[in-house]
Amino acid sequence: MVYSGSPDSALTKKITIHTLRKMKEQGEKFVTVSLYDAPMANMAERCGAEVVLVGDSLGMTVLGYDSTIPVTMEQMIYHIEAVKRGNQKSLIIGDLPFMTYATPEQAMINATRVMQAGAHMIKIEGGRWLAPTISMLSERGIPVCAHIGLTPQFVNKFGGFRVQGRTPESAAILQEDALILEQAGADIVLLECVPAALGRSITASLKVPTIGIGAGRDTDAQVLVINDILGLTEHPPKFSKNFLCETADIKGALLKYVQDVKAGIFPAEEHMFH
Ligand code: KIV
Repeated sequence: MVYSGSPDSALTKKITIHTLRKMKEQGEKFVTVSLYDAPMANMAERCGAEVVLVGDSLGMTVLGYDSTIPVTMEQMIYHIEAVKRGNQKSLIIGDLPFMTYATPEQAMINATRVMQAGAHMIKIEGGRWLAPTISMLSERGIPVCAHIGLTPQFVNKFGGFRVQGRTPESAAILQEDALILEQAGADIVLLECVPAALGRSITASLKVPTIGIGAGRDTDAQVLVINDILGLTEHPPKFSKNFLCETADIKGALLKYVQDVKAGIFPAEEHMFH
């Protein structure tokens, strides 16, 4: 099948937190793409991606660093503003980069800048230690996506990009972290590189939606980085897929990603950890 841009694949209304909660309640998957510029953001809207994430992965995918650690607030803001100009309907999540939310007060100042650049929600990486930060932001009107599992800003603590939650003890900690962060006010929990069974059980235990990347098929949504979707990554991670090699053009690749997530075809068994 050749995926061409059919007009009805485009988003027809603005996506809000409310839309995503409703989709979870109704068992309908939503789709997230991590991307960094206006034309791709526009393409994502036209292909029906409900959420776009301006991830600090931009340090590795666009700026050539070997981790996300060097990414600055100024770089994030530059890219969030570009994405905002290209996309009027998807919900935009903006990352807070390394060490810009080490205290709740610092998080307030930097999250405000990300929201003022055009994001509708901010994303921060870490477990239960973030509960006071999430409460503070949430109580003051800043929606939060809490990123747990393989949190790339911790690469030096983890000793590499490793699957998390493989032992019963570490899985139980992640399961508890997810609940604690939801209770603190997180609006979305993003799970990266955890066994599929853990992705499933965390998703079932939360009222808020989960977004997975390398977390199996049963999360409420999936996210992939645009570079992986388009086959630009030299050594792609196991959980990713090059959709461009099955399609005619970039729009076709994005449409196929959206359709395969919604149909429960992606991720397939070969993209999961057990
Ligand atoms: O920075 C990013 O793009 C991310 C996703 C890979 C989840 O955090």
